[in-house]
Amino acid sequence: MTISMAVSRSRPAAADIDAYGLFVDGGVPDVLDPDVLEAMRFEPKAGAAAQLVDRQGRLALVVGLGSPDELDADGVRKAGVVVARRAAKHGHVASHVLQDLPEGLDAEVAAQALAEGLGLGAYQYLQQKSDPDEPTLKKVTHVGSAGPRVKAAVERGRVLADAVAWARDLVNEPGGSLTPPSFARAAGRMARRVGLKVKIMDAKAIEAAKLGGLLGVNRGSKQPPRLVQLTYEPADKPRGTLALVGKGITFDAGGLSIKTGAGMMTMKCDMGGGAAVLGAMSAIGQLAPPVRVVAYVPMTDNMLGDDATRPGDVLTIRNGKTVEVLNTDAEGRLILADALSLASEAEPDAIVDLATLTGACMVALGPQIAGLMGNHDGWRDQLLAASDRSGERVWSLPLPADYRELLDSTVADLKNIGGPHGGALTAGLFLKEFVADDIPWAHLDIAGPAFGDRETPLGPAGASGFGVRLLVELAQEFAKP
Ligand code: BES
Ligand code: MN
Ligand code: ZN
Repeated sequence: MTISMAVSRSRPAAADIDAYGLFVDGGVPDVLDPDVLEAMRFEPKAGAAAQLVDRQGRLALVVGLGSPDELDADGVRKAGVVVARRAAKHGHVASHVLQDLPEGLDAEVAAQALAEGLGLGAYQYLQQKSDPDEPTLKKVTHVGSAGPRVKAAVERGRVLADAVAWARDLVNEPGGSLTPPSFARAAGRMARRVGLKVKIMDAKAIEAAKLGGLLGVNRGSKQPPRLVQLTYEPADKPRGTLALVGKGITFDAGGLSIKTGAGMMTMKCDMGGGAAVLGAMSAIGQLAPPVRVVAYVPMTDNMLGDDATRPGDVLTIRNGKTVEVLNTDAEGRLILADALSLASEAEPDAIVDLATLTGACMVALGPQIAGLMGNHDGWRDQLLAASDRSGERVWSLPLPADYRELLDSTVADLKNIGGPHGGALTAGLFLKEFVADDIPWAHLDIAGPAFGDRETPLGPAGASGFGVRLLVELAQEFAKP
């Protein structure tokens, strides 16, 4: 599934196919016959691709890169995906795409983006097929005179794509199979492999820590809850401490406020925020950014057992605030409330949470863009910059102070729903109640981009792994906000 990558001055003799990037109105490498391309009517628009035979009788794949002055890292990443898809039946690709890129495009940025795209494009989820077609693309060699910095960039791209693939696998795994204990074990195995500190809280520890939101959501389930905490410690003096929080609902049936059949169909994706945080931690462990990073992922499913939380029940969250649960399907904010309280107690320099939190955010921004909310402009700007570098799109939404009263409860400190309108914002305002006021915090509602029913420019239908690359970029460029 994951592919290996090399960089070499000369074309490897064992390669099965050569890949070339072509520009609109640009030249053609000597080894290709422009008359053949002309006869094929190949237009090198972004996303276009064709196979032909080169002058030496070898199989060649040409991918369009569009106009040279419009090509950016995202275009190179998407070209990598196209190469991986079109060369999927060939074991070893010799890629010439990094040669002759426009001057304005940084060579390291391009190399990382291409490697990411190749890895993302090679991804398939085959674990539930009885007789899968073996993926045959195993290796890509980048041909050209690349120095150590470009080699390191290719390696970064490979690590990132592998981390995204791992997160996608977790999200694609069915909710009856990826239970909170098995999710936590997968996190623990990954953490030990890349050298992170691991703490896994079981039901007893969660009770002792008074995580009333997580326990309340878990009451309807046969599966015990977990809270996974991972720590990455840089070798040198850290630039600060970053806390990552991810929603880990392994399946969201809605609880007693049960979802419809159609609404439940994709709800194995409801740990997509947790998977993104853990995927990012696996890359962070390998890429060693100059910041301490602590991850918190609360895990449970949201079921309807005979002791399930009832609408009207009141839960006490870790920070002492009480919540009237009027809709058990607004469960993500309850487990995040505990995790954000825990994260705040450790006094990090900044917090970011990722959650498939509201259908309302999907209505607002559609299937490809995450909603960004928060309490600090400078920290929000760091998220926007990381979004730009990673190509993972986010859009700022407000947290209007006067909307807070929509969460007023007649019996408790607040209720867990805010009424029919502005659902992404009232969910964000709810989370804000559980973050210490003086800690810069950002919230990404990834309900849209985490999971989809059709292929996207970066991957197949199903889990996208959205957030992994953005979080790693955020850690790599972290500055105390
Ligand atoms: N996990 C869902 C949100 C969701 C919906 C994610 C669609 C991905 C795709 C969340 O727990 C939920 O059920 N939210 C409710 C909140 C409402 C009851 C206030 C929603 O959005 O309907
Ligand atoms: Mn729900
Ligand atoms: Zn949910």
